[in-house]
Amino acid sequence: MKTPSSVGAPAFPSGAETERTEAHARELAKQALRKRELASALQTDLAGCERILLEPGCGHGHWLADFAAAHPRTTCVGVDLISWRIRKGNDKKAKRGLPNLFFYKAELGEFLEVLPANFRLDRTVFLFPDPWPKARHHRRRMVQTGLLSEVARRTDRGGEFCFRSDDRPYFDWTVEHLETHPNWQIEESAVWPHETETYFQGLMDAYFSVIAKRV
Ligand SMILES: C[S@@+](CC[C@H](N)C(=O)[O-])C[C@H]1O[C@@H](n2cnc3c(N)ncnc32)[C@H](O)[C@@H]1O
Repeated sequence: MKTPSSVGAPAFPSGAETERTEAHARELAKQALRKRELASALQTDLAGCERILLEPGCGHGHWLADFAAAHPRTTCVGVDLISWRIRKGNDKKAKRGLPNLFFYKAELGEFLEVLPANFRLDRTVFLFPDPWPKARHHRRRMVQTGLLSEVARRTDRGGEFCFRSDDRPYFDWTVEHLETHPNWQIEESAVWPHETETYFQGLMDAYFSVIAKRV
């Protein structure tokens, strides 16, 4: 008689299952290598400057390059999923000679996973992040309760979380998540850290901004 755990389980994996398992193992190995390389680049590039301004989804790095030029004592780190956008950011760094500016091709969650614990986020700035308008895609938005908790864990009291979007529903979502989060307090009077048009800002007629402080 079959035991409950063996019911429905084939005695030997089929060819397709073996292929799926091997593909999964290859993906995990690639992910592990990617994380090791990122961790080592962070340790080398950012040695000695453990307080950073982070821009997740930095795109071509317009805003960050401009901010870095205006604030040479701030270490600015931009992260984006798309390689050619990171290349454009690095071109700006080279052209403008900005030793305090760094770009990494990475997914935000993965970046935070490998960012060494001693690095503190003085400011985290989101500019026109993808809004994922369909309800079934909301889980893909970068701003989530877990992300706010992770950023809060790495931010000292008084540090800032800045968010700007042309998409009203995503803006409202972010405000609601900040209002219900115990570690963030919206500061109506806070001033946007630096005004310069991002690529996406230039395409928009209107946008909404919110700044919260770590409490
Ligand atoms: C609409 S663009 C905005 C780019 C830039 N901030 C601007 O205002 O021009 C959103 C960017 O976020 C990046 N992105 C989306 N999800 C991401 C994630 N989970 N981690 C890192 N980057 C992400 C995309 O590749 C894209 O470049």
